[in-house]
Amino acid sequence: MRTPLCDAFGIEYPIFAFTHCRDVVAAVSKAGGFGVLGAVGFSPEQLEIELDWIDEHVDGKPYGVDTVMPQKFAADVHGSEEELRAQIRTMIPDAHWRYVDDLMQRFDLPELTDDDSFGGVVGWAEDVARRHVDIALAHPIKLIANALGSPPKDVIDLAHEHGVKVAALAGKAQHAERHVNNGVDIIVAQGYEAGGHTGEVATMVLVPEAVDAVAPTPVLAAGGIGSGRQIAAALALGAQGVWMGSLWLTTAESSSSPESVEAMLEASSSDTVRSRCYTGKPARMLRNAWTDAWEDPEGPGPLGMPLQNILTAEANARISRSHRKDLAFSPVGQIVGSMNAVQPVRDVMFRLVEEYIESAERITAGIAELQ
Ligand SMILES: Cc1cc2nc3c(=O)[nH]c(=O)nc-3n(C[C@H](O)[C@H](O)[C@H](O)COP(=O)(O)O)c2cc1C
Repeated sequence: MRTPLCDAFGIEYPIFAFTHCRDVVAAVSKAGGFGVLGAVGFSPEQLEIELDWIDEHVDGKPYGVDTVMPQKFAADVHGSEEELRAQIRTMIPDAHWRYVDDLMQRFDLPELTDDDSFGGVVGWAEDVARRHVDIALAHPIKLIANALGSPPKDVIDLAHEHGVKVAALAGKAQHAERHVNNGVDIIVAQGYEAGGHTGEVATMVLVPEAVDAVAPTPVLAAGGIGSGRQIAAALALGAQGVWMGSLWLTTAESSSSPESVEAMLEASSSDTVRSRCYTGKPARMLRNAWTDAWEDPEGPGPLGMPLQNILTAEANARISRSHRKDLAFSPVGQIVGSMNAVQPVRDVMFRLVEEYIESAERITAGIAELQ
């Protein structure tokens, strides 16, 4: 499974794990892979705490940070996190506020207590994402990745000045080419099957297209990868490694809520939907009554990013408080159908490597028979 990226990062396996959970980052990196912490949901202050924790628990192994700097943002807002939220709230039409109030009543969501807080995600606003970058670069990270486009050129240059490589997610070969022209070092070619924000081209088609478009820039395959067989397929398509997000959500180290884990363990690969109901951009998640409500032709439909998450922040907090499996927000990809047990990260890594070896041996044996 060794590829040039293993040497570039000093890792045993080219398995990159995207996660919002610091325990998963540390566990993957310690098991020979490369953990990447998603920063978007953290305030800058909290990100600092998470990265300090990782530094203490990762035994000097390499890890990275992922930020979200979207290319297109529906609102020109600036300031502190609370100022951003206040500005965004004023842009939301009354009909949408009324619809969310109706939904909270329809689903009989519990009231929040004084201990509950909600505000909504603003980590994708440039002012916050840039603070994430500054904090991340003050830690011994080896990679900074960006969802939803290339990071701005000055961020790429700053990362390079710190000796940090830059990756960017791409849902089309043209996006991958643009990233490389902007100075990005590694492309994460992420297909339609993936959990979270995702485009419309399947991984099987996208990866070889991206590999050809940006060669010799290394490409990581993402979307629908959850086994060593799929890692072997990704490398056969020309990728230098894999970037997985969904699989870690049901590991023992994951911070996913119990109701969300239960829903994922029960789900089949047909139970996801690309919905704009959480962020305003199409993101894959488990389909449920809440996602259906935002597809309802009688409803106003979701707003764009960053409005939709601020609009639904209270409802999302009340759904969490309800602990209801049938409403829980569960972003996950189609690979969810194969996620049927909770296992520690170390065991998952071991399984991936074993399955990869079996697949590689099967393919090699087939070639030997031809000769
Ligand atoms: C719960 C969840 C949240 C995600 N959030 C982000 C994010 O904040 N930034 C990002 O670059 N990618 C994000 N992604 C996408 C992952 O980085 C990765 O590309 C994707 O999970 C790969 O497909 P898979 O889910 O089939 O493994 C997220 C994925 C999931 C499942």
